[in-house]
Amino acid sequence: MRIGIIGIGVVGREVINILEEQGQKIEKLFSEKVEVVKICNRSPKEGLDSYEMTHDYKVLLEDNSIDTIIELVGGIEIPYDIAKKTLEAGKNFITANKYLLAIHGKELFVLATENNSKLFYEAAVGGGIPVLSPLKEGLFPNEITRVRGILNGTSNYILTEMDGGATFSEALEGATIKGYAEADPTFDIEGIDTAHKISLLSYLAFGKFIDFNEIEIEGITKLTIEDIKNAKEQEAKYKLIGEAKLEGDKISLSVKPTLISSSELLYGVDGVYNAVEIDGTYTGKTILYGEGAGGSATASAVISDLYKVIASKNWN
Ligand code: HSE
Repeated sequence: MRIGIIGIGVVGREVINILEEQGQKIEKLFSEKVEVVKICNRSPKEGLDSYEMTHDYKVLLEDNSIDTIIELVGGIEIPYDIAKKTLEAGKNFITANKYLLAIHGKELFVLATENNSKLFYEAAVGGGIPVLSPLKEGLFPNEITRVRGILNGTSNYILTEMDGGATFSEALEGATIKGYAEADPTFDIEGIDTAHKISLLSYLAFGKFIDFNEIEIEGITKLTIEDIKNAKEQEAKYKLIGEAKLEGDKISLSVKPTLISSSELLYGVDGVYNAVEIDGTYTGKTILYGEGAGGSATASAVISDLYKVIASKNWN
């Protein structure tokens, strides 16, 4: 496997660390050599002298020896260009970019199929929690009736910190320092990032994309310390919940702060942790829980997609 990595931020750096630390194990498991051929970043980065670096992503896309591109750029315009060109070139595309896929996923999945390329995005939802594979594979005999969860590490961290006495801005600063927040944290606190993620979960659960503009979205910015205190008195907590449900043949998606009582499992999901509840006809409720943001957890999910590339090759 010959890899090109585009974007060395919090997650990209950890992807390289894991590949370096686990290289031998990964190669043994994959039964093939795994090499990072080129790395692209807008500005030079320290500690990567042993790699071929460029600031022009087209250099990686035009390198015929690279078979797999890992895109960790963030934003949407450049990643969209990278995704299209990668798939059109017949390369595999791995991304953590929920924004890109919530808006352009429909087109990109078709493009991947047409070009016999693989498109994997486990890191796009729930950080380090492997949630897309269980939904697509492990639970496939079920009809899914609802998926809901805490899907944004930053806003959950903020709510937890506010519960402990911090102000909103102190808590947001903490989430930014820890590498949880988006480059534009409005996406986190206004529920947009959660909406991107619930739209992808809904696609996997129900098999079709809902127009992003149809999602009812409310973030956590209107919640006050008073609201949080009042919730505590009722033995409850506000959590930013993304929900996708199927009623008859109608799929509806929403993101909103929701009062969760202490009797529910989601009540104990604090800090950067995320959890996803999946209601299936045979399994009942399945809950997946883990770190929803941050470099190492998200990088773990990115690397797991390399395994999917290998596994899918062996199935062909
Ligand atoms: N900003 C995102 C979050 C990163 O806080 O959940 C992980 O998708």
